[in-house]
Amino acid sequence: MSRILAPLAALLLVAGEALGAGPQVATGRGGAVAAAEETAARAGIEILKKGGNAADAAVAVAFALAVTWPEAGNIGGGGFWISRDARGRALAVDFREVAPRAARRDLYVRGDAHGAVPSPTEGPLASGVPGSVAGLALAHRRAGHLPWKTLVSPAIRLARDGFKVSEAVSQSIARERDRLARDSETARVFLPGGAPPPVGSVLKQPDLARTLEAIRDRRDDGFYRGRVARQIQSGQERDGGLISRGDLARYEAKIRTPLRFKFRDAELVTLPAPSSGPVLAEMAMLAGFVGVEKLKGLDAPSSHLLAEIEKRAFRDRNRYLGDPMFPRVRQNLLTDPARLKEIAASIDPLRATPSGALPLPEREKASTTHFSVVDAAGGAVSVTTTLNDSFGNARIAPGLGFLWNNEMDDFATRPGQPNIYGLVQGEVNEVAPGKRMLSAMCPVIAVLNGRNAFVWGTPGGSTIPTTNFQVLLNILLRGETLSDAVAAPRFHQQDFPDQIQLERDRFDPAWIAALEKLGHTVVERKPKENPIGRVHAIARKPDGTLTAVADPRGGGVGLVVQELSRARRGAFSAPGDVAGPE
Ligand code: DON
Repeated sequence: MSRILAPLAALLLVAGEALGAGPQVATGRGGAVAAAEETAARAGIEILKKGGNAADAAVAVAFALAVTWPEAGNIGGGGFWISRDARGRALAVDFREVAPRAARRDLYVRGDAHGAVPSPTEGPLASGVPGSVAGLALAHRRAGHLPWKTLVSPAIRLARDGFKVSEAVSQSIARERDRLARDSETARVFLPGGAPPPVGSVLKQPDLARTLEAIRDRRDDGFYRGRVARQIQSGQERDGGLISRGDLARYEAKIRTPLRFKFRDAELVTLPAPSSGPVLAEMAMLAGFVGVEKLKGLDAPSSHLLAEIEKRAFRDRNRYLGDPMFPRVRQNLLTDPARLKEIAASIDPLRATPSGALPLPEREKASTTHFSVVDAAGGAVSVTTTLNDSFGNARIAPGLGFLWNNEMDDFATRPGQPNIYGLVQGEVNEVAPGKRMLSAMCPVIAVLNGRNAFVWGTPGGSTIPTTNFQVLLNILLRGETLSDAVAAPRFHQQDFPDQIQLERDRFDPAWIAALEKLGHTVVERKPKENPIGRVHAIARKPDGTLTAVADPRGGGVGLVVQELSRARRGAFSAPGDVAGPE
């Protein structure tokens, strides 16, 4: 065995070589935001400085991202919120999209009278009923402190007056240029003059500003009822979509019981199904049965064990997870110790267990976004939100300025066939009216000695649970600093296709050869175009010091407020000492 043990130092190439600069890190004590886009992160900082808590700041960041990070920030999509305030009260909000009431099991299988089979990734039939506005309103009602209007206002300003286009935003639009050009209204907004807006230009979205004003004035009713709802319905009728005013009026974000599990000394808090929190929990529990110390190294034997754990957790995901309101979902199986003990015993330390093989589909370029917020008192919010693909299905709702999601592809739309993440999912996740599609998203908070210690999450489609788990191992098992934990190379095994996907140029060829010898098929992903996750994380030390980290795999940002004095917390105005990138 010792021949195939590659020491850590040899197997990791320098992060900078493959990914450009290292993670962007900021440290302070007055509050922190880590997010994909700087203008939106600053909107959160602005709220913290006004005396808002982490929940207030998170709501402001979410709305601002819907303006300044259109590939994934959204009001036309959905997501998951987990928060835990400074007193330890956790709140889990599921604002996943649902299938319209007119959607049927075979929607994407049976053609229409002309033989055309609708697509779950493109066009009006790809969208689920959005959940974001309802989710944010609910989270604010339960955990917010400042007035709702104060939190929506920064986004309105950014949409109405415009925001300065960064290189990351310009590139993100350029990557999806062809898809964005297909719909005239979308092209008008994101391809002014037929091209992506140049870096430094100001991008204004007046229609979106008006939609946000309705939300500011009438909370979720501003989106799900009244003018906006009527306009959504008429746009859907014109385009052949299924979403009606009835679907909008019936949409409900749900408070879920937070899913908690242990890993060594830490308590982890995430969400149950239809989030993939149970997959994350299963991986942590299997690690316990295998022996966590065996996963400590980054050598081939421990990576083999990790890949085998991931494979088994994903097998359960595909078989047992879906919307818990529908039959066949058995999420408790994923955290049942007796069962997991048996599953752990099926892992052969010397040989990969085959799970059937199919080539990985070519297409992999989707987009979700995660942001983390911690306030000066230690309250924490972890939110992952998405339109599914980058820019959703690249169609703006006529006259309303927001992008539609293409989340229907997260259902098992066609039996036995992989979705855009190569996932082949079971009947448990088939399409049904009003049903939530299963998600890989699982934002997380790690609690040590009763205190919020780490907050993180990631986009990345099916790689989300494995990314979150590998960050967890790096922090809680290997004792890495948050920035090292986020930057470290990652790999992914999702049971089907039966292969380890890894970030190219970041692993020692000897490590790869050793895994192949153990029976694994190893496939490389281009780290720049197709990284495994883009984590935005915050650590809080017992003395209150906050470190915000943005993954070097993306152009995100970690910002902190340097110091808020105890007396001024909660009634604070503009100290003006934000730290972040130059
Ligand atoms: O909810 C899910 O599992 C997917 N819609 C997430 C998509 C995603 O993360 C794309 N990001 N890069």
